[in-house]
Amino acid sequence: MHAIVHERLGLAGEVLEFRVVPEPGPPAEGEALVRVTFTPIHPGDLLAVEGSPAFGDLVSLANGARIPGFEGVGIVEALGSAVVTGSQVNVGDRVAFFPVSGAWSERVVAPMTSLVRLPDDVTDEQAAQMLINTITARLVLSTGHNALPPERKTSVTVIQTGASSAVGQLLTALLVANDVATIRLVRSEASASALAKRMPGPPIVSTENADWKDVLQREIDGRPIFTVFDGVGGVHLSEVASFLIEGGTIVNYGSLGGTGTDIRGIAPRSLVLRGVSIGEWKNDPPEQRRADMDTALGLVQNRPELFDDVARFEAADIAAAVAKMNLPGKSGAVLLSF
Ligand SMILES: NC(=O)c1ccc[n+]([C@@H]2O[C@H](COP(=O)([O-])OP(=O)(O)OC[C@H]3O[C@@H](n4cnc5c(N)ncnc54)[C@H](OP(=O)(O)O)[C@@H]3O)[C@@H](O)[C@H]2O)c1
Repeated sequence: MHAIVHERLGLAGEVLEFRVVPEPGPPAEGEALVRVTFTPIHPGDLLAVEGSPAFGDLVSLANGARIPGFEGVGIVEALGSAVVTGSQVNVGDRVAFFPVSGAWSERVVAPMTSLVRLPDDVTDEQAAQMLINTITARLVLSTGHNALPPERKTSVTVIQTGASSAVGQLLTALLVANDVATIRLVRSEASASALAKRMPGPPIVSTENADWKDVLQREIDGRPIFTVFDGVGGVHLSEVASFLIEGGTIVNYGSLGGTGTDIRGIAPRSLVLRGVSIGEWKNDPPEQRRADMDTALGLVQNRPELFDDVARFEAADIAAAVAKMNLPGKSGAVLLSF
């Protein structure tokens, strides 16, 4: 079978190759063999390939070639011996999967607990990108909620950075569904008007404009801001954090803006900087994980527009797919087809 592999850490455009690799072994008890149709490229996948600290621990290349990717969609081809027909997933079912290491392959062996059976009204392209981003948005939301002191858990107003990203939009959808007022920051006027069309609703402020802080202050309109949901980091974070009330929390889940965050304002104002990683999700109870998968499926079915901006590439064309990921102003999901 074919897969995307890398044998060393480095820029994805330089180290990723499409090549023949051995088929995975047969599924064991509690596992399924899935013929993959689409798998997304996430910014985090590229960070892992690069060996960036923004991914976390370095991925292991000890076994030679590593296959990236953790999420995708496909058809169940076989079940482990102890799994009988009539269980939640059967041979021939279309499924989304996460987490499964080595997802950028023609076939993967996935734990049954990582599978979501797909109804007919959900397309492969939507399903391929529904789990990681939605689950991240839910984790980010819960983290922010848990950080609120009891007296601040109602009439909440928050600031979001990187609001035009996929996770940013899903977070907005969850915030609005939970009656939280959010003010969305994006990096350019072009992004602001595109986002306003795609997802009308909460106010959007472009940090491109010299007066963005005045505009943000007007949008805040005297309400206390206890939480910033931040997917950007970088040089602007300290400025955004200055809008928090004393003791407030920055919930950071990404580094779209790169390095250079000045933390000197954190201590004097007793702010809390809290990171969130989807890697934590495996520690959640099975019922919570299944509820999160159901939430993802429900969002695709009820808000399909959040999953419909897609660019498809043949897996063999991995270089073009990576180039698309790195394009300034790139929007929507980049999917590899196998
Ligand atoms: N913590 C976790 O477990 C976890 C899980 C998933 C994702 N993430 C992180 O979450 C972030 C978003 O991921 P995603 O998949 O949603 O990204 P995405 O959909 O690929 O979003 C990229 C968009 O973000 C905007 N952007 C890029 N650089 C920016 C900057 N410096 N300032 C403001 N906006 C910027 C751009 O939109 P415009 O062109 O419209 O400006 C760009 O098109 C990434 O940092 C990713 O690594 C973390």
